[in-house]
Amino acid sequence: MRASEIIEKKRDGSVLSGEEIRFFLTEYLSGAIPDYQMSAFLMAVYFRGMSEGELLTFTEVMRDSGETVDIPGHSGFLLDKHSTGGVGDKTTIALTGIYGCFGIGEIKLSGRGLGHTGGTVDKFEAIPGFHFPEDKKELIAMVEALGGGIMGSTDKIVPLDKKIYALRDVTGTVNSIPLIASSIMSKKLALGSDGILLDVKVGSGAFMKDLPSARELSRVMATIGAKLGRKTVSVLSDMEQPLGLAVGNANEVMEAMDTLKGKGPADFTELVATLVAAGLMMAGKTKGMEEGKRLCDDMIRSGKPLARFREFLAYAGADPAVVDDYALLPGPSRETACLSPTDGWVARLDAGSVGRAAMLLGAGRTKKEDDIDPGVGILLRKKIGDPVRKGEPLAILQYNGGENLEAARDLLGRAFGFSGDVVPRRNVILEILTS
Ligand code: URA
Repeated sequence: MRASEIIEKKRDGSVLSGEEIRFFLTEYLSGAIPDYQMSAFLMAVYFRGMSEGELLTFTEVMRDSGETVDIPGHSGFLLDKHSTGGVGDKTTIALTGIYGCFGIGEIKLSGRGLGHTGGTVDKFEAIPGFHFPEDKKELIAMVEALGGGIMGSTDKIVPLDKKIYALRDVTGTVNSIPLIASSIMSKKLALGSDGILLDVKVGSGAFMKDLPSARELSRVMATIGAKLGRKTVSVLSDMEQPLGLAVGNANEVMEAMDTLKGKGPADFTELVATLVAAGLMMAGKTKGMEEGKRLCDDMIRSGKPLARFREFLAYAGADPAVVDDYALLPGPSRETACLSPTDGWVARLDAGSVGRAAMLLGAGRTKKEDDIDPGVGILLRKKIGDPVRKGEPLAILQYNGGENLEAARDLLGRAFGFSGDVVPRRNVILEILTS
């Protein structure tokens, strides 16, 4: 078999055999096929897509390219909740406290932020002392001790995705539905969950800019899940504007903890309740979404999720006192407001621009090697549908140093658009798709 023939076949729209896909991927992982041939192959997939058979083989080979994690003897339902990535998404942090209270365990890999989207690993690591499990053994120990465990992504699990993703990032081939679906699902399938709950973000701050493409990505991921033996549900949620009010790292941890205290922003609280309700249905614990959302509300009011979150922090080496004393978290040395230029209603709040403004302040990275400043970010004061007066703060920029402050303020100001007429608020939940 020759790599160039496989590339030509894909380029010309023929369907590759399982053997050809296996050959191409395994030879690439071993280094026998070079990056330039994989780049050409990825571009061919970008334009030609993949048949269902190709996609399943591609995903299986990715899944099996490294270690897989099974949790021996785990009796309850293990859920892997995954977000496709957005701005202000601190959902995993809040859910960490809640699922366990319902007897649902979690197992997942989380990533670092890159570009305008933040990463759960960076957010948790904003909590002083916080350490993720470093390997499979430590992840299993965490699941056994707490009923659930989260680990940062590692070279050992699905190493092929890491190698291919780095190439996609620089060859214009990230935004391909079969490549995104196989990348996400291979990592989910390598972990021994009982069900996969996908929070597929839709809008300007997300990979999927509109509902039809988000539905298609969800459909493709559900097909992979169904064929490879994993129950998969997708919640399509709004990323036209940031989720909640805080965008950064430590400030997002605070907002997640506020939500566990019943004091979170309405959109974020709604998304958390929906993901809890979906998880409860997947685990066979409830029959309907409304019942699950009500149970989530009651559970938060009981204070138990906050207690579990404290236990999780203590296990991870962080001081649980942060829950009651946010001053223990890193913060900005200075703050300044971005003011409204007009009276009216907020009609637009571009999530991508807010994410990039936070990145300019140091909350995110432009390159993988960059350090972040966990204490900086943006606190939104207005969201779409809110009335606003000229000169009123739209958002607060939290910063240290302030090298890119004016660029960030400018970008943030341009993220907002206004209308002289009343603008309806946006729904955070767009659709729920079950396979
Ligand atoms: N997240 C992933 O893990 N992979 C992609 O390709 C896109 C988002």
